[in-house]
Amino acid sequence: MTAERARITIFDTTLRDGEQSPGCSMNQEEKLRLAHQLDRLGVDVIEAGFPIASDGDFESVKAIAAAIRRPIIAGLARACRPDIERAWEALRHAARPRIHVFLATSDIHLQYKLRITRDQCLAQARDAVRFAKSLCEDVEFSPEDATRTDPDFLCSVLDAVVEAGATTLNIPDTVGYTIPSEYADLITTIRQRVKGIENVTISAHCHNDLGMAVANALAGVGAGVRQVECTINGIGERAGNASLEEIVMAMRVRPDRYAYETGVIGAQIFAASQMLSEITGVPVQPNKAITGRNAFAHEAGIHQDGVLKNPLTYEIMTPQSVGVPDSKLVLGKHSGRHALGIRCEQLGYTFDRRALDDIYRRFVRLADKIKHVEDHHLLELIRDTHKPSGSATPLIEPIATAQAAVVSAPAANVPAASAEPPEPPRPFPTAPQTNAFGVPLPAHSDPHHEQTQQEDYLWGV
Ligand code: KIV
Ligand code: ZN
Repeated sequence: MTAERARITIFDTTLRDGEQSPGCSMNQEEKLRLAHQLDRLGVDVIEAGFPIASDGDFESVKAIAAAIRRPIIAGLARACRPDIERAWEALRHAARPRIHVFLATSDIHLQYKLRITRDQCLAQARDAVRFAKSLCEDVEFSPEDATRTDPDFLCSVLDAVVEAGATTLNIPDTVGYTIPSEYADLITTIRQRVKGIENVTISAHCHNDLGMAVANALAGVGAGVRQVECTINGIGERAGNASLEEIVMAMRVRPDRYAYETGVIGAQIFAASQMLSEITGVPVQPNKAITGRNAFAHEAGIHQDGVLKNPLTYEIMTPQSVGVPDSKLVLGKHSGRHALGIRCEQLGYTFDRRALDDIYRRFVRLADKIKHVEDHHLLELIRDTHKPSGSATPLIEPIATAQAAVVSAPAANVPAASAEPPEPPRPFPTAPQTNAFGVPLPAHSDPHHEQTQQEDYLWGV
């Protein structure tokens, strides 16, 4: 019997906190397009914007609230009447509106930014939540900079806002300062000390300044958090927010440690990531977990060989599970014969061992010069290695025996006893004669590239 898994609410703030990252601002049409994708992705809450911030933000939140009806639509407001009224104005026609009120609680913010006392802070938070509650049933409160707030004072503020009607308490690590064990302890303290906490949802909102946003959020979940605030590709203020895809997939790949479930449709993750990148023009870091272009790419020959034999050797989740069409074998100097042969087959060329050896020798030399051997390079290499003799522009001396060894896919299917004349070998690709990078293709027989032990090793995989 499998143990019951707790359901974690995924609160996506790509359109609010994410949009606050440099270069990531979006117009109304773009926000609406992304909001539809977030809906397809299955997030539970979309924080659509900060309506008081600008007319554009107000209109975007309003449009999203009107168009997207399944998830909760949240709008951010500082702890004051004009902000809350503006947020409500934008959200009031949503199927499931939420007002998200925030006020800093750390001494450093109170003293230098807000210039108010702790007592004033507590009263302002309570009054703001009470006012928001008079407009909207669903009210979230965030004590900004919670992780640098005196825990006693934090608990007093949380007591007050729960009493005033907050239904979600979000605990922001605004400056990405905490560490997992400390964040878990803070959640435990809140659960032990705040009155009425059993009737509200505790939420994690972690920034990534020390690269621990996801680890902190997950530690919070372990301590009783049941909503996680996150963004696609981890975008957000400064170093960003906890990444949605990393949180969700950590739970999916390690249910033994994170026995939680979310409503996220994994197969929509990559599309969401790509859409965000396309809209903002901000590329995804290549080695970004889950959504980076190298997340399912294998270049080392040993890895490629393993993945071809069984993807589980080097992949802990399938590319399809997050909507990536397929894992990518990157052909570079670390690649082995096995991967090269497979790629040739994908391009329509099947070689016997000897012919593949010829290609492989020259491939390794080329890969030494250019980092990645793309398909067009490979096609050129195949063409040159097996160039019909008599070519007017021989780049490389043709090999008489190798050409005969090429087995084209269609020819291989011709029955031996057929009365028909055998199908001629597949013509070599008609790619341009010169290398796109102006890099000369390696000579076929090069004394400096005799088979070495290392090569033997790679060839074996
Ligand atoms: O990081 C933060 O403190 C915030 C709050 C507004 C929730 O984004
Ligand atoms: Zn934030």
